[in-house]
Amino acid sequence: MTDLLEPRAMGQSLVRRDGEAKVRGTATYAYETPVPAPAYAHPVQATVARGRVTGMDTAAAETMDGVLVVLTPFTAERLASTEDWEYAVLQTDEVAFRGQLVGVVVAETSEVARQAADTVRVTYDEQSHDAVLSADRDDLYAPEQVNAGHPTDTAEGDVAAAMATAEVRLEQTYETAMYHNNPLEPHATTALWDAAGDGFLTLWDSTQGVHPARAAVSEVFGLDEEQVRVVCPYVGGGFGSKGTPHANLVLVTLAARALPGRAVKLALTRQQMFSLAGYRTPTIQQVHLAADRTGRLRAIAIDVVEQTSRVKEFAEQTGVPTRMMYAAPNRRTTHRLAALDVPIPSWMRAPGECPGMFGPEVALDELAETLGMDPVQLRIVNEPEVDPDSGKPWSSRHLVECLREGAERFGWDSRGPGRRREGHWFVGYGVASSVYPTMRQATSTATVRFEDGRYVAEIGAADLGTGAWTVLPQIAADALGVDVGDVDVRIGDTRYPTASVAGGSSGTNTWGSAVVQAAREFRGKFGNDPRDGDEATGNVDQAAMDEDHAAYAFGAQFVEARVHADTGEIRVPRLSGVFAAGRIINPRTARSQFIGGMTMGLSMALHENSVWDPRMGQVANHDLAEYHIAVNADVGDVQAHWLDEHDPYVNVMGSKGIGEIGITGTAAAVVNAVHHATGVRVRSLPVTLDKVLPGLP
Ligand code: MOS
Repeated sequence: MTDLLEPRAMGQSLVRRDGEAKVRGTATYAYETPVPAPAYAHPVQATVARGRVTGMDTAAAETMDGVLVVLTPFTAERLASTEDWEYAVLQTDEVAFRGQLVGVVVAETSEVARQAADTVRVTYDEQSHDAVLSADRDDLYAPEQVNAGHPTDTAEGDVAAAMATAEVRLEQTYETAMYHNNPLEPHATTALWDAAGDGFLTLWDSTQGVHPARAAVSEVFGLDEEQVRVVCPYVGGGFGSKGTPHANLVLVTLAARALPGRAVKLALTRQQMFSLAGYRTPTIQQVHLAADRTGRLRAIAIDVVEQTSRVKEFAEQTGVPTRMMYAAPNRRTTHRLAALDVPIPSWMRAPGECPGMFGPEVALDELAETLGMDPVQLRIVNEPEVDPDSGKPWSSRHLVECLREGAERFGWDSRGPGRRREGHWFVGYGVASSVYPTMRQATSTATVRFEDGRYVAEIGAADLGTGAWTVLPQIAADALGVDVGDVDVRIGDTRYPTASVAGGSSGTNTWGSAVVQAAREFRGKFGNDPRDGDEATGNVDQAAMDEDHAAYAFGAQFVEARVHADTGEIRVPRLSGVFAAGRIINPRTARSQFIGGMTMGLSMALHENSVWDPRMGQVANHDLAEYHIAVNADVGDVQAHWLDEHDPYVNVMGSKGIGEIGITGTAAAVVNAVHHATGVRVRSLPVTLDKVLPGLP
């Protein structure tokens, strides 16, 4: 139990400190970093999905006016570490997926670099590739663990026996699509080696973590971390795709090493991002529910099949939320992977929880229908007293309150039993639960200093649009007991103390804990009347960490869907969420996170879909003309509310993390609303009109 920090600055809807610079265009992003005489890199990508590069004819590129360097797997320097296949850029002639990096051209302008890269002739020994995910492949395998270190499989009781004897049972297969993160700012870097050539490296990189990026690059190039500086004050979105470095960062660093003293810039094109920057694996989820007539679950199980690349494993933890959401004495979760000749999947906003709250939350809706029960009520009767997975008590769990308040705000009572028609439109309501674990990373350090009469907190944190620039001063001010206007923060640079990745909705929890620790050290050392230059440091691992409770944020999402009776067109005029996510440190930036996540969930439900062409081994709609992300015209009224939740176990701020929970459950709520409107049950995302139309009356 922690004595929560007294909220004074925390809880205020302060405007974003970085807002003005962004609006005025003075916020400098990685690619725009002003450097003298930059050169520009453009990648050469594999045009086969599997095979070997047998030759690269670079003569035309090399003689082109303005071309400075051409690198291939045959000419690039050997890297110090090739342990991580994704980072072993230009180290092998092996081609493991279409779009893989096989070369780079550096030139005086980006146009020349691109044109020259296009003239590079690559010959291949092409092999037949295998890029079809299906649940009945005979080569599915169980990974050693799934993302975030969770066990691959869990089992409690006897699901098969409970299914066989249940009064009501459901077994259905649900599918989520392949999705690409698609932040507005592409993956971009300005890389500069000092003129000595083997000395100091500076990377202005668009990243969710300057220290994790530095650690990766140092390892790959065999450098001491002190030899590398990574700078990133602003990020134009990441959604997880900038949470781990991708091959583009190694490529531009390699390219710049060939031109010591000269900065080299690389921004991936939108099309390149579809094979090089990670994506959310498609999932196939077989869900099993057994219940008695009152709706109490006797069994809940999910068997997940998903893909990874053949050369680097990423195992999305899709089954994990089913382990703890609802009370059922018999439970099973499994994950099986198909290793395919496909680009390498990775983190995308709420990996695991986002796809994993689709199948089960639709299945519950189907079960409610079978039982003739309100789907809100079905969730309420299956509320577990303690975490079913760990047996630990909850640090706080207010899912039921979210469901009740959400139902009230939404007008759920007017829902009615089924299809309602208004003119040309069928109208329906749907609900689903949301969840996201409350995490804190093991390492992060902050410094608090008194400087020119002001307090300054330094930590290498990243603000990828989430609000770190704004909420960290609020936390520091309350820890110091001063006005927030007297506090500055400096983030986004490895010159500041080590910070963990902005991922897993853990940024504020982790960095905030370190900042509070530093502020307390500062007050302990210097009292309330510090002098210029006084400085203290604090670590997150000095801050109290509770191990005895299961800590999660919860939420409930309500959707109104309208389906056109003649065309099947689907519209969502209303999306309303109520969340219980601990203390909300800044309501303004928090609302932006919640409604951003919900909107992304709506987009996942109705629009987004990386259309995989298994013959080519690539995403067919690999640009923003064809990969449709919800735009203003697709988004109606999105409302986010939250409970005033007091959780003394999570951290000294009482905060739970809010970046990802908004996207969890949303797509299920949309599908459930479409079913309520039309009677058509869609079990594979996205819900497009072709799936609904045949079932319309
Ligand atoms: Mo988020 S996908 O954990 O960066």
